[in-house]
Amino acid sequence: MKQRVTKAIFPVAGLGTRFLPATKSIPKEIMTLVDRPLIQYAIDEARAAGISEFIFVTSRGKSALEDYFDRAPQLEAELRRKGKKDLLEALRTTEMVSGAIAYIRQQRPRGLGHAVWCARRLVGNEPFAVILPDDVIAADKPCLQQMVEAHAETGGNLIAAMDVPPQATGAYGIIDPGDAVGRLVPVTGMVEKPDPAVAPSTLAVVGRYILTPDVLRNLNRIKTGAGGEIQLTDAISADIAEGARTHALRFEGQRYDCGSKAGFLEATVAFGLARPDLGPDFARFLDSLPRHGAAAE
Ligand code: G1P
Repeated sequence: MKQRVTKAIFPVAGLGTRFLPATKSIPKEIMTLVDRPLIQYAIDEARAAGISEFIFVTSRGKSALEDYFDRAPQLEAELRRKGKKDLLEALRTTEMVSGAIAYIRQQRPRGLGHAVWCARRLVGNEPFAVILPDDVIAADKPCLQQMVEAHAETGGNLIAAMDVPPQATGAYGIIDPGDAVGRLVPVTGMVEKPDPAVAPSTLAVVGRYILTPDVLRNLNRIKTGAGGEIQLTDAISADIAEGARTHALRFEGQRYDCGSKAGFLEATVAFGLARPDLGPDFARFLDSLPRHGAAAE
């Protein structure tokens, strides 16, 4: 019988240098889209997929994340006193059952693969999910839920994927694909950040994975890869080379690269427009802005 996926790793140790100076004193995962931090979107998606154990791989300077998922007795008491039920309700999404969330530190920035490896003892010998909070995915059915459902059929490793422009392969893990059946694509190999000239395809890894514990074992032994870092892509690739069944899922939904300023801005606009309480006015405001070029006339 296939094991259910109940644990998810959230690699949140990155320095967030692309957003300096904002990230000088706040973790980038606390940056907000409308009124929720990036990490909240990732946690909500995990919960929707049935995840009940949340493992954060953090680093120095990330304590705001721990406080975010803790109770805030003074704030709650104040809101209760003032009868602010809606705000108390908003805080509920940040509540975690005691023991459901664990924090492990990655002491040195040695790459995504190394970050995942740091969580190995908490994962144990069962399939697990990895969610990169930089990749925010808007979808009717949350992306990880789509993956858990597909994984119940495929087993093995399952990776979220989407097509990218040929010139963009150097920014992603790129999949060597077999013949697709619907949205599921068998994966015969993977390369981290290849030049377009040598990329096996334009099918790129997006930050959602369901992996077998064998990938963790591979992380023990693989060498540093692209960018001088221990790459998760390489550990999965080693698993495939040993015959592990691995699929990519062309998920349904829109992915925003909130690790980049442009992507973050796009997500802010899209999520603002999608909010019933803000969208209509916001749309009118956007319509009223001078079109590109017009301002210069
Ligand atoms: C990481 C992975 C890469 C993947 C990407 C998706 O890269 O290493 O394989 O395609 O996330 O966002 P990063 O963007 O952290 O450099």
